[in-house]
Amino acid sequence: MDAIEAIRKRKAVRTYTDRPIADDVVDGLLRAALAAPTGSGSQAWSLLVVRDPERRREMADLIIAGGAQYFANMRPQRDLDADEHRRQCGEYAEKILSTYRIAPVWIVALLVPRGNYPDSMAEGGYVDDLLSVAFAMENLMVAARAEGLGTVPTSAFQRFEKDRLRAILGLPGEVDPVLVSPLGYPESFPDGLPPALKKGFRGWRSLVHDEQWGSTRA
Ligand SMILES: Cc1cc2nc3c(=O)[nH]c(=O)nc-3n(C[C@H](O)[C@H](O)[C@H](O)COP(=O)(O)O)c2cc1C
Repeated sequence: MDAIEAIRKRKAVRTYTDRPIADDVVDGLLRAALAAPTGSGSQAWSLLVVRDPERRREMADLIIAGGAQYFANMRPQRDLDADEHRRQCGEYAEKILSTYRIAPVWIVALLVPRGNYPDSMAEGGYVDDLLSVAFAMENLMVAARAEGLGTVPTSAFQRFEKDRLRAILGLPGEVDPVLVSPLGYPESFPDGLPPALKKGFRGWRSLVHDEQWGSTRA
């Protein structure tokens, strides 16, 4: 699979099998991730690989619970009372994410501040470090797709329980688990977006401007 195909076929995978992944395949992905561009050459990043079954289970439970909270925040409550709304969101998270518990590996992309920016550059430096972690994760996800492996960049679902996530991973306070992803062979790759998302998704032509803002191709 060439780079363009891997980029276009990478999709958020939320259904995993427990098929093991060879260590050298995982190492290849980690190296591809860390070949990403890094602002000011900071390398303000690390990748944490979780294979231990107990720790994986804790992570999956945390992310599924976080998913339930995310849906409870994002989905209109309509005429449901708060408890019923929460219960339904929990059921939905369980339904779409339950195979996270069998994914053989979790990857955590960490922002590790290196203290290399002067005060005058600290704010912009933080943004650059954050962008660099995202570039690294995108590299990893595209490389994973080329290997037939699924990923899903997960930041919203872990935001509700960051301190617990830090505790599970033994992270010091200054290290931020920006993105986590299960890594595993899916039953199949999604063909496109789920219908609910597809409805409002903007086509590429409406997102490309030529020369100046406002002149889109659409
Ligand atoms: C910054 C960022 C945060 C995301 N957080 C989550 C998340 O918490 N949970 C999740 O299931 N997907 C998450 N996603 C995945 C998006 O929902 C997904 O990429 C989007 O719906 C487009 O689908 P695709 O990746 O299959 O093209 C996140 C994606 C990005 C870029």
